[in-house]
Amino acid sequence: MSNSISILGLGLMGQALAGSLLDAGHQVTVWNRSAGKGDDLVARGATRAATVAEAVAASPLVIVCVLDYAAVRALLTDVPLTGRVLVNLTNGRPSEARETAELVAGRGGDYLDGGIMAVPQMIGHPGALILYSGSQTAFDGHRDTLATMAEPRFVGADPGLAPLLDLAMLTGMYGQIAGVLEAVALVASEKVPVAEFTSTLLVPWLNAMASTMPQLAEEIAAGDYSTDVSNLEINRVGVANLVLAFEEQGVKPDLLLPMKAIIDQRVARGHGAEGLQSLIEELR
Ligand SMILES: NC(=O)c1ccc[n+]([C@@H]2O[C@H](COP(=O)([O-])OP(=O)(O)OC[C@H]3O[C@@H](n4cnc5c(N)ncnc54)[C@H](OP(=O)(O)O)[C@@H]3O)[C@@H](O)[C@H]2O)c1
Repeated sequence: MSNSISILGLGLMGQALAGSLLDAGHQVTVWNRSAGKGDDLVARGATRAATVAEAVAASPLVIVCVLDYAAVRALLTDVPLTGRVLVNLTNGRPSEARETAELVAGRGGDYLDGGIMAVPQMIGHPGALILYSGSQTAFDGHRDTLATMAEPRFVGADPGLAPLLDLAMLTGMYGQIAGVLEAVALVASEKVPVAEFTSTLLVPWLNAMASTMPQLAEEIAAGDYSTDVSNLEINRVGVANLVLAFEEQGVKPDLLLPMKAIIDQRVARGHGAEGLQSLIEELR
């Protein structure tokens, strides 16, 4: 079934979103702040709107994907949203999502916030995921259209939930990248081929460790800080040794130092017999 969708913002992501909707046969109206973007979308059948108001008027479903929420709010100033579902796929914070939901409701619109767990090249292909939160009615009503861009997953009525989970997933990713960068730097200090080390040793190890994370999360949820794997005192000695090895190899251990500091702090408070999951207490 062909539906009408308007896309505000034709950056790399906005263009990918619009392209996937066009490919699926939908009627797509596009708007971008500056000229010169979206010509290929228009050539593929999209309609170009001259103003935000014109784009919003063109479709019941309006997707916005721009730099930040300040830009989203500025775009929507004085634009009537009655009868419109606004899906905001701009990256932001939970507090910003809640504020924007109120702004949209105040203009008579229905709001969905979204967190895109994909790069533009993945949009419209299996493996792309978008988290949504906010109006369940809006999600249910447009689920099939949203599924064109990426697997749509509704995570709750609080609009702040999708950005919260999005940021949490990015946090896990940055932690992993930090570990990989340090590991590769250490290996490269002895001129070991880093690509081979990464594919044959590091990634299988990270995958094995990743498979233990749900258990760690269950223990945190249960407040169970016991361990039969390795306690914090053993980890304190291990990480101190690791940092010394970096120094001896002439490599900066900077991305590891916060982890060392928090382990040291927890042990100094008398919790050396607990497992790594108890470090969560130092973060709360
Ligand atoms: N790219 C990714 O891999 C990826 C993945 C997940 C989520 N996201 C999120 O998607 C959003 C867009 O990212 P992108 O990759 O498309 O960025 P981008 O290629 O840099 O495009 C930014 C877009 O925002 C518009 N914009 C910036 N400031 C604006 C303003 N004040 N008013 C109106 N429009 C404004 C730009 O318009 P002009 O063309 O006029 O400059 C452009 O359309 C971001 O929130 C980003 O975090 C991106």
